[in-house]
Amino acid sequence: MHPHTFVFALMTFLHDLFTVTWIGGLIAMGLVTLPAAKKVFGPGPQTKQFMHAVQKRQSVLVYVSMVGLALTGFLLSKRSPDFTGLFSFASTFSLLLSIKHILMLAMVATALYRSLSAKQGGAAREKLNFALLVLNIGLGVVILLLTGLLVAYAA
Ligand code: HEM
Repeated sequence: MHPHTFVFALMTFLHDLFTVTWIGGLIAMGLVTLPAAKKVFGPGPQTKQFMHAVQKRQSVLVYVSMVGLALTGFLLSKRSPDFTGLFSFASTFSLLLSIKHILMLAMVATALYRSLSAKQGGAAREKLNFALLVLNIGLGVVILLLTGLLVAYAA
């Protein structure tokens, strides 16, 4: 196998692995873990303690995935003749990629805010925390939709 092919395969593998870790983790948290915790522990402090422990473990994986997606994504970008630079809108490929970057930055800001304010209590805070989780699931799904367009366009 040509070394370039091997590097491209490895970068795509890692990019996909970081994607399932972050976006898959968000979807599992919102649609599986949180509803199940509320069902088993009820609306009281035990659900909050359990979810705080889950979020603390998951945030390590999320931070690693953020950096991994940015690094592998940049290397994947440089491979394409249509890539005209970061935050460039000079080609359809770069336009799709730049929108993807802007949405990823919004996801990073939301994730950082959620984990830095996780300790604060109160019903309003919990509601906001859940709303931010739903926001990041939505942004992640839109990024994947954009990526489908990006890969189809690049093919
Ligand atoms: C939340 C963040 C991100 C997610 C969920 C994501 C997800 C994906 C997925 C699933 C693919 C398809 C890989 C395949 O073909 O199997 C992909 C491709 C790609 N991503 Fe990302 N990505 C993210 C961030 C980034 C960033 C930050 C960059 C650039 C710095 C980037 C650049 C690319 C490029 C260039 C491709 C390949 C397109 C092609 O086939 O030519 N991605 N991304």
